[in-house]
Amino acid sequence: MQTIIEPFRIKSVEPIRMTTRPEREAILKAAHYNLFALSAEDVLIDLLTDSGTGAMSSEQWAAVMRGDESYAGSASWGRFETAVKAIFGFQYVIPTHQGRAAERILFSVMCPKDPIRDKEGYVVPNNTHFDTTRANVEYQGARAVDLVIPEGKVPEAIHPFKGNMDTRALEELIAEVGPERIPLIMLTITNNSMGGQPVSMANIREVAALAHEHGLPLYFDACRFAENAFFIKLREEGYEDRSVREIVAEMFSHADGCTMSAKKDGLANIGGFLCTNDAALAQQEKDLLILTEGFPTYGGLAGRDLEAIAVGLEEVLHEDYLTYRLASTRYLGEHIAREGVPIVQPPGGHAIYIDARAMLPHIPSLQFPGQALACEIYLEGGIRSVEIGSVMFGKMEPDSGEAHPSGYAQREMPADMELVRLAIPRRAYTQSHVDYVVEAIINVFERRQDIRGLKLTWQAPYLRHFTAKFERV
Ligand code: F0G
Repeated sequence: MQTIIEPFRIKSVEPIRMTTRPEREAILKAAHYNLFALSAEDVLIDLLTDSGTGAMSSEQWAAVMRGDESYAGSASWGRFETAVKAIFGFQYVIPTHQGRAAERILFSVMCPKDPIRDKEGYVVPNNTHFDTTRANVEYQGARAVDLVIPEGKVPEAIHPFKGNMDTRALEELIAEVGPERIPLIMLTITNNSMGGQPVSMANIREVAALAHEHGLPLYFDACRFAENAFFIKLREEGYEDRSVREIVAEMFSHADGCTMSAKKDGLANIGGFLCTNDAALAQQEKDLLILTEGFPTYGGLAGRDLEAIAVGLEEVLHEDYLTYRLASTRYLGEHIAREGVPIVQPPGGHAIYIDARAMLPHIPSLQFPGQALACEIYLEGGIRSVEIGSVMFGKMEPDSGEAHPSGYAQREMPADMELVRLAIPRRAYTQSHVDYVVEAIINVFERRQDIRGLKLTWQAPYLRHFTAKFERV
């Protein structure tokens, strides 16, 4: 059989509400053209994120009932810790309420603010930092450096492992700043910000060798580890006959630790963890954990959440699930690309990224073509997506000290790419939902010349995309 089907049937349904286009016009205006400000009830198909938005299985719901809510040493913690250790192979597991909490603890410990060293500053290389990862690095006063291979920055370039790190650039960075200023090297698998693109086993091996040669630990940002492993199985020579579980074990055997958001490949609605093999670090991390997240056997999670994650981490390794997962993302990408919509090629694991710069060349970067496109897709079909471009990653130029006569927008530097991400929640939507999304995007594509840009009217100092306000140019 050629048809790839959803490897599940539906036991519980959640109604979604239709809206009319005039209603959506009013809703969008009231939200200041920021889709984060929408009420989810006003969204028909929510492709804002694949994080915490998936459907849990009947086995996960059954496990939820098994949740042991003891404060310390609960049986649920035991099952969670066992599952994490069995899959990832690290010695110490620190539960957190989500990925960024693991990041905050990791970077607080690895890049401590130090009055002597701060003059020079720490440097953290990554293939591409996700926004919260970058923010957590920078919050410590350290510099977050993105070193993805050059193909990774060219949306139309085809490469099987576009998430790979540029190892030559990594070597140069280590030589330039010195290993003593680099507390760790990170690899984000898959590389979310650059299109959900995977990292190859060969690249993992090379980066690990370089890191270890300089005595530096290698950490994975492991959110979508199973999707990455399945891409290795499908695309990398020598892995076609290996199980995903074995591939995952090999990937993580090269790492010294990881941060994880269980809201992605944990198939859970909340949760995360931090892992390390370093006993002294683990102790410091647990001390911090108690301060803000909770006791080290629950880390801000309920016992039932720990149970759902323990089961989810096993289910995500099923190859029929991963086959469906990658096929449903590819289906969306191929159907819109066939009509001429420019997307990041090849389709990634969890999302399709439309190249808004290529689709809307008449809108300059600082009028946010990605944001404008995301708004149009909402107006067309009530579909929520997210801009990953100059709103999310645009930076202010170093302040010259002089007030700029034409306002701050002129001092902004655009991001490398202007993308709109359509992230697919796991096991939540059917193929006809995706067909509807395809139709809406093609309709928007056909009237692309009429789409206008946006102008920022308000922004916050960190992670501005969540709360920024816009008006139409
Ligand atoms: N790292 C990556 C690569 C991520 O994609 C995310 C979250 C995080 C870290 C942080 O995890 O949300 O559990 O705190 N990404 C979501 C997204 C929010 O929409 O891509 P978190």
